[in-house]
Amino acid sequence: DDGGLEDRILAAKAALGDRVVILGHFYQRDEVIKFADFVGDSFQLANAAKAKPAAEAIVFCGVHFMAETADMLSGPGQSVILPNLAAGCSMADMADIESVSACWEQLAELYGTEPDAQGRVPVIPVTYMNSSAALKAFCGEHGGIVCTSSNAATVLDWAFERGQRVLFFPDQHLGRNTAKAMGVPLDQMPMWNPRQAWGGTDERTLRDARVILWHGFCSVHKRFNVGQIEKARAEFPGVRVIVHPECPMPVVDAADEAGSTDYILKAITAAPAGSTFAIGTEINMVNRLAAQYPQHTIFCLDPVICPCSTMYRIHPGYLAWVLEGLVRGEVLNQITVPEATAIPARVALERMLAAKP
Ligand code: 13P
Ligand code: SF4
Repeated sequence: DDGGLEDRILAAKAALGDRVVILGHFYQRDEVIKFADFVGDSFQLANAAKAKPAAEAIVFCGVHFMAETADMLSGPGQSVILPNLAAGCSMADMADIESVSACWEQLAELYGTEPDAQGRVPVIPVTYMNSSAALKAFCGEHGGIVCTSSNAATVLDWAFERGQRVLFFPDQHLGRNTAKAMGVPLDQMPMWNPRQAWGGTDERTLRDARVILWHGFCSVHKRFNVGQIEKARAEFPGVRVIVHPECPMPVVDAADEAGSTDYILKAITAAPAGSTFAIGTEINMVNRLAAQYPQHTIFCLDPVICPCSTMYRIHPGYLAWVLEGLVRGEVLNQITVPEATAIPARVALERMLAAKP
C-alpha cells in the first residue's frame, strides 16, 4: 500500500494534461517509472528536453546534472523540476570548476597553448554528462565538448581531430575504457587526482599523454568485479555478460560487451528468446528488464543489491508533491542554470548533439 500516492499522482497528471511532461532515467524505481511519459538514458533524455515538448513544466525523475541539462536545452518559459533536490551524483561531485581550472593551468604549463602544424590545440577538454553545468560551460569556453556513455567514442574522435590530447573528466573508467577500445595505449593515459596532482606519474608518460584521465568514479559501478563474471560464466554456460562502461577496466575486459543503459536494453530486446544475461549496472534497471522480458534469464552481476542511492531519492511522494504544486500553480524545486553558465555550456552540449558517429 502506497498510502494513496498512486491515486494522487494520477489525479494530478490528469488535471495537468499536456501542461506537464515527466521524464525518467532507466535507474529510477518502478513506482516512479510507471508515471513517466518518456524513459531513456542520459543522452536520450537530453534530446527529449531539446525537443521542447509542448509542456510548461518538465518533471525530471533523475539526478541533478540531468535536470540542469534539461533546463539548458528546453524551451524558453519552460521550467524543469527535480522532485527531490538531494538527488545528486557522487561522481559528478568529484570534479568542480576550481579543481578543473587548476589542472588546466598545469596542462598549459606542460604543453603550452599553441596549436601544432595541423592546427590541433594542445588539449581538448571533454566532460562526461555526469558533471555540473559549470564544467560543461568550461568545455564550451575552451573548445571542448560533452559526452555520454552512449557516444564517448564518437566524441573522442571529434576531440582528436581538433586536439593533440584530451582531458577527460570526471569518470576515469569511461575515459579509460573508451580510449583503450580506440587503441590508445594505457601508458598514454596519465591520471590527474585533484588531491595529489600527478601523484608520481613519470615525465615520459606526461609527455606522451593522449588522454589525461580524472580521478573520479561511480560508486555503484565500482562494485562490480571480475570474480562475479567468472561465477556467472561457471553457473550459466553461454551467458552474455554486458556491463556499463563506468565499470573498472578489468570488468569491461572480462565482459562480452560494454554499453550505456540504452545499449543494454537494445541488446536484450534484440536477443532470441531463452537467452541468459548477466548485467553490470544499477539494480532497478536490471530488475525491471528481468520482469519485462520473462522469455530471457536476466540477473545482476552483483548479488548484494546495488541501487544508485541518489537516483533512489526520487520517491513517488516527492513526485506527487511537485505535481500537486503545479496543479495549484506553484513551481516547486525548479532547477535553473543562470544564462552566463548556460550559454557556454550549450555550446559544448550542441557540439555533442551534432557529432556524428
Ligand atoms: P547512461 O544513462 O548514459 O547510460 O548513464 C548511466 C548513468 O550513470 C547515469 O548517471
Ligand atoms: Fe552518478 Fe553512478 Fe548514480 Fe549514475 S549510477 S547517477 S554515475 S552515482
